[in-house]
Amino acid sequence: MTTQTTWRVAVLPGDGIGPEVIGQATRALDALAASDPALALDYDVFEWPSHAWHQAHGESAPADYLERLAGYDAILLGALGDPGPTSDANRYLLSDSDSLAPLLEIRKGFDQWVCERPVRRLAGAPQYLADPRADDIDMLVIRENSEGEYVNQGGRLARGTPNEVVTQTAVFTHRATDRIIRHAFEQARARAVARQAEGRVRDFNGREAQVCLVTKRNAQKFWGDMYTEMFAAIAADYPDIATHHELVDAACMKFVSHPWAFDVVVASNLHGDILTDLAAVLNGGMGVSPSANLNPSDRSRPPMFEPTHGSAPDIAGQNKAGPAAMLLTTAMMLDWMGETDAAAAEAATRLKKAVADDLAANADRQRATDVIGDAVLEGLKRP
Ligand code: IPM
Ligand code: MN
Repeated sequence: MTTQTTWRVAVLPGDGIGPEVIGQATRALDALAASDPALALDYDVFEWPSHAWHQAHGESAPADYLERLAGYDAILLGALGDPGPTSDANRYLLSDSDSLAPLLEIRKGFDQWVCERPVRRLAGAPQYLADPRADDIDMLVIRENSEGEYVNQGGRLARGTPNEVVTQTAVFTHRATDRIIRHAFEQARARAVARQAEGRVRDFNGREAQVCLVTKRNAQKFWGDMYTEMFAAIAADYPDIATHHELVDAACMKFVSHPWAFDVVVASNLHGDILTDLAAVLNGGMGVSPSANLNPSDRSRPPMFEPTHGSAPDIAGQNKAGPAAMLLTTAMMLDWMGETDAAAAEAATRLKKAVADDLAANADRQRATDVIGDAVLEGLKRP
């Protein structure tokens, strides 16, 4: 394992509850770095992209912001969208697609072609399912993050007239399909090894891990068939991994009726987006659901770590937002650094444990953002 000299992180608080939750993340990073000289982290906090920057400059971020971010090892983002609080009817608002555009630009700009959203409820997080097997949910939703329904190709003809015609094209390439499906199988294997180390073995028809492909091939046959064919061909390289297919509508149903039957799930950009909101509920809600946008084929380009949640304008600026999702997202960043840096791997484990212990100890208590942050910092001091 090589050790990185110093990790450089671009911290983007963004809008709404973003600055509040990211404040707790940087406190945790400071505490982790202060307590372990081997963990070398350096971060810069930027005011962009944000509504406030747009209001002042007429754009969400400086024109060269992607070039500036390219110099960092990782990006840690709070939230983008409505800046809140919603009680202020005169707050400066942009259309959703404008305010959220930087998110998609960053994902595309650094070819962050996989979005990983783990689903494993921590004790103390809200449990929406009554079936006791829901405590065993352990899945990883892998979302294709570079193309599909998100390519933004299309247009509006005869706009606003009764003759209007709109196209919104989805694009699926062999290259992106190959890499996302292979990544899903690799992750399934790695998860089986990690479970074994913890003495938790799962069984999928005699195999220890599974990949479930999600499509809508009964209605969208072109990409559905290509995904299905490539999935079968790639699966042949992973005889140790069980395979499964679900149509996206049925997958939604089964995520609620028996989510414990899933392991790794691989889905298109839009299907993955929708499935991971549903999956966040299985975690206990948006407040505890982390997310990572990665480029596993080129670690020199920065990945972006951002919680699944948005800017929650209704509670923005009130010290009410739960920071657990942001802290667990920060732990995902440390885990990513931990692939080449033992100190970062150790920090990830410590942070996850501090968040988990805090949740377990305070299950039903309503607490302020900074109170939770304080408790997590206290937890980091414990061995
Ligand atoms: C997400 C969000 C984004 C997406 C929006 C804000 C563009 O919903 O990260 O899941 O659809 O990818
Ligand atoms: Mn989403």
